[in-house]
Amino acid sequence: MSMTDIKKGLAGVVADYTAVSKVNPETNSLLYRGYPVQELASTQPFEAVAFLLWNGELPTDVELAQLRALERDYRVLPADVRAAIDLVPLDAHPMDEVRTAVSLIGARDLAGSGSVLDASGNPAENLARSIRLFAVLPAIVAYGQRRRRGEQPIEPRNDLDYSANFLWMTFGEESDDVVVDAFNRSMVLYAEHSFNASTFTARVIASTLSDLYSAVVGAIGALKGPLHGGANEAVLHIFDEIRDARNVSPWLDKALAEKRKIMGFGHRVYKRGDSRVPTMKAALDTLVEHYDRPDVASLYSELESEFVARKGIYPNLDYPSGPAYNLMGFDTLTFTPLFVAARVTGWTAHIMEQLASNALIRPLSEYNGPDERHIEGYVPDAETL
Ligand code: CMC
Repeated sequence: MSMTDIKKGLAGVVADYTAVSKVNPETNSLLYRGYPVQELASTQPFEAVAFLLWNGELPTDVELAQLRALERDYRVLPADVRAAIDLVPLDAHPMDEVRTAVSLIGARDLAGSGSVLDASGNPAENLARSIRLFAVLPAIVAYGQRRRRGEQPIEPRNDLDYSANFLWMTFGEESDDVVVDAFNRSMVLYAEHSFNASTFTARVIASTLSDLYSAVVGAIGALKGPLHGGANEAVLHIFDEIRDARNVSPWLDKALAEKRKIMGFGHRVYKRGDSRVPTMKAALDTLVEHYDRPDVASLYSELESEFVARKGIYPNLDYPSGPAYNLMGFDTLTFTPLFVAARVTGWTAHIMEQLASNALIRPLSEYNGPDERHIEGYVPDAETL
């Protein structure tokens, strides 16, 4: 047996520096470029936080207006992207649709750009690409939900800012301020989280000097999994199964006996609670009141208190955001694409950071297959399994 110390899942491995965000599990805090995320979520529009992640500082009024103007320029769903989305089977997962759409946008944008040697682009090009993806993703996500409901896409409204327009393009009606605010908070809270699986995927791809779009497509694939972004969707499946706060205890007995993972709980880094949860829970509370759904609040609290009491494992951001998106009217399948629309800002900030001081990411492995052997002993018609 080898004495190599394998860090399964890279747990506890510090892979590089980053100035984008700081996760501190000891103090239960998350800082974006130095600012506590809960302060950003309750005071800043998502556009300003995107600017902060990309540029390192919050925007001036003029810079925010410039970013908002660019965002409006690119928020229309291009006809070819709509056509590509329409090729994706209606019963495919919407994450496959989003991944396909981003892949086409990348192919179109980079067409004629020459050899792979130029793929990684310069900082200005990559910032422009990041802004375009950030601006167009709401149209992609909104159209995905509408087409599954048999509805036509809705044109963006230039009198509305990012979050209000996102809701408008999804539902075709203006949302109340309390809903826009809760949605904006969720986007800010989901925007960035250091070297999580999808961001690390994006950095691995960027480190080969591939292009930003390829890195984002890979990150979307990583985010789809239920151990990562797919958990917000999975939380709603659990809520649908339990249905009523009174069923929590027997449901939990059975789920734990079957050794099921309870989605929306636990975190690789936070072991004493996810710093983003209180802010999103406060937003969920405002929605519960707005939509008069105390049943959601009781199911939420009952499952949380029972599970924490039994296992000492705390909720993560997906736990309050799943029911919040449900109350806003999003289909359960749309939840993880919403996470993409938010996290694209963090991914692209990390891709640019990776390229600014790049080293190819290429770890080692410890071989544990058969000892060296030779073709001489190989008999092709013998059964091997
Ligand atoms: N339900 C039941 N048991 C759990 C859970 C859970 N949600 N989370 C951890 N555990 C148990 C796990 O079974 C293990 O027990 P034992 O030591 O007896 O085998 C122990 O706690 C350690 O768990 P782990 O899976 O080894 O810990 P990890 O750091 O690898 O996992 C995690 C972190 C997020 C993958 C895990 O907590 C999990 O699967 N949670 C459910 C999925 C989820 O909510 N994911 C969203 C994560 S946060 C948002 C994001 O990053 O996208």
